[in-house]
Amino acid sequence: MAGRIRIMKARPEDLIEVRELWRQVSVEVGVGAPPPTGDGRLFVALDRDRVVGCALVALEDAAMARITDVAVARALRQQGVGRALVEAAVVWSRDRGARSLCVDAADLALGFWRRVGFGGDGPRLERRVLGPADSLTETESAG
Ligand SMILES: CC(C)(COP(=O)(O)OP(=O)(O)OC[C@H]1O[C@@H](n2cnc3c(N)ncnc32)[C@H](O)[C@@H]1OP(=O)(O)O)[C@@H](O)C(=O)NCCC(=O)NCCS
Repeated sequence: MAGRIRIMKARPEDLIEVRELWRQVSVEVGVGAPPPTGDGRLFVALDRDRVVGCALVALEDAAMARITDVAVARALRQQGVGRALVEAAVVWSRDRGARSLCVDAADLALGFWRRVGFGGDGPRLERRVLGPADSLTETESAG
């Protein structure tokens, strides 16, 4: 990913640009999706101070988080911005005790979700988000 792009928690002043990005992308995804709202954490990818990507992550229950509203500006795709947004969501989910992160993958984005570690038959895909400490505990309890 280009060094100038940063993944951050969205600030109130980013929301207008997030809505505009999602408006452009919702035509492509083929649904009249609402702009990102709701509980959880909205991440943005900032190119200097301009929003070029977004992703919303929220806990579905104690063990499962869900990522929605993932979008990257067309001109900046295929440069790792989408992956960086997903990794931010993975860390956020892990820090809140979730074991997995799920997504309802759009058909056009299935390849992307598989490349960034999600599995399953679709459209709902999942990725484990357990950290090394959790894995160690599982190994110890198994042995
Ligand atoms: C899907 C989307 C978020 C990907 O963002 P991006 O910044 O281009 O993704 P990245 O550059 O981080 O790609 C990560 C990997 O996925 C691959 N990839 C990206 N888009 C892909 C696609 N549509 N199909 C297959 N593979 C894809 C990349 O080549 C890269 O592979 P690599 O690890 O071998 O290099 C972006 O194309 C987008 O905004 N699409 C429209 C909105 C959308 O579909 N959102 C998802 C709704 S569920």
